[in-house]
Amino acid sequence: MDIQVTSNAVKKVVCDVLVVSAARTKTAEGKPKIVLAESARHADDLLGGLLAQICADEEFKGNLGEMTTVYTMGKLSAKRLIMIGLGKQETLNAQSVRRASAIAARHAQKTGAHSIALALDGETFGVGKAASVQAQAEGTLLGLYTFRKYQETSDNANGQGVTKITLLADETSKAEVEAAVQRGNAMAKATNFARDLVNEPPNVLTPTELSRRASAMAKQFGLECEILDRPQMQELGMGGLLGVAQGSVEPPKFIILRYRGAPDSTDKGIALVGKGITFDTGGISLKPAERMHEMKGDMAGAAAVLAAIQAIAALKPMINVTALVPSTENMPSGSAYRPGDILRIMNGKTVEIVNTDAEGRLALADGLSYAVKEGLSPIIDVATLTGGIVVALGSTMSGVFCNGTELCDEIIAAGQAAGEKFWPMPLDEEYAEQIKSEIADVKQTGGRGASAVTAAKILENFVGDAQWAHLDVAGTTYIDSQKPHQESGATGFAVRTLAEFALRRAK
Ligand code: BES
Ligand code: MN
Ligand code: ZN
Repeated sequence: MDIQVTSNAVKKVVCDVLVVSAARTKTAEGKPKIVLAESARHADDLLGGLLAQICADEEFKGNLGEMTTVYTMGKLSAKRLIMIGLGKQETLNAQSVRRASAIAARHAQKTGAHSIALALDGETFGVGKAASVQAQAEGTLLGLYTFRKYQETSDNANGQGVTKITLLADETSKAEVEAAVQRGNAMAKATNFARDLVNEPPNVLTPTELSRRASAMAKQFGLECEILDRPQMQELGMGGLLGVAQGSVEPPKFIILRYRGAPDSTDKGIALVGKGITFDTGGISLKPAERMHEMKGDMAGAAAVLAAIQAIAALKPMINVTALVPSTENMPSGSAYRPGDILRIMNGKTVEIVNTDAEGRLALADGLSYAVKEGLSPIIDVATLTGGIVVALGSTMSGVFCNGTELCDEIIAAGQAAGEKFWPMPLDEEYAEQIKSEIADVKQTGGRGASAVTAAKILENFVGDAQWAHLDVAGTTYIDSQKPHQESGATGFAVRTLAEFALRRAK
């Protein structure tokens, strides 16, 4: 769905729902006060002071995501108007605008709207114009996302939903506004592409199907695509990925997508490596049945890197980027790998297996080794790697492990701009004690304590001298209950941070 930009006055926009905004602050005497954004003020005038009255009565307090709906009864061309809160004026930023847009759009769609218009005017509160426009475009498309393809015949199926989106922006700096809409559009569409991949059931989205979708997307966006099959993996010595894959009847795939935005540069560019376990049963070290179905989302890292390179291809920064996805199922069977096995990774190092449920690090080890061999740097891997990171940070933030503080800061800053939170985690050398093996180069797991850290320490063995960051997104890529701005299921976390990181590096 495309987004129209119009410089129409608030009064003239024809739509089912027009969204305007307001923030909360305090007067000099410390009393709560609500500030209407510019378009909200215009709407208030046309409605004879209705919005101001609702604020004065304290029905509406301006908290982030709070909504009041009024019918315009012909005073505006919009049928309904939603006033949405942006929260505290002092801390208001692009993320407030993105979040509010998503909440309003999702609510409008759920309550029968087909055409919506947004005029949140972050500029009133000091958000830059381009950032405000991008956040509205992005937030709207993210908020409207649903995954209903398997419910076409049930009552739950979403009729048509919203089919028309209009953004209000004044005529000045038209080129800037259009570029901002394009950025928001590319970022949101890529995020939703990742969500579709994660939401697909695991009987549909096998490694083979994942590689098909990657290859179709590559074709559409003009990316180079190469898919390695088992014989090529054997040739390369990808013993980690092959070890995990040997218990499944589904063949493993190693997906490579290349974007060349700087073909003349000697810099090979960025590697994005995503964990692509299309279903994680735990293998011989079988997981409990409860919540195992959520392990269809164990390829969310893969989805994130494929989607990020899609956004990058759409926005065309002058930089080279390669996405790498080692993909397999992790199944128990007579041919499955066992605790006690020793596997040899592509870079020659051996790993002593102690728990077949720690499969992600093995697949990633080959992905990272491949990136090193290609001379790529920085290498950023994204993985639903550990339950430990879920315990530590929940579904609010992802952990970032980095072998350099600058890269770490860059990722956190890109995340901040993209509306995704990352928290720095340690790679202190003392943790390596926990993964010493008596029989191989390294032990696969380091026990219960600091399991997210020891997992990252294993990965460190396979990054050579490259700059490297590991994003453990186990808690953030999949939610089991819906939120005002988001469906339950896949969130698409990390897509926009990775794309934003590449855009910034290209500057
Ligand atoms: N895919 C899981 C991690 C996970 C947990 C993702 C919760 C999403 C939500 C991973 O393969 C795994 O099973 N990790 C184990 C490793 C352990 C056996 C060393 C874990 O963290 O419990
Ligand atoms: Mn596992
Ligand atoms: Zn896993």
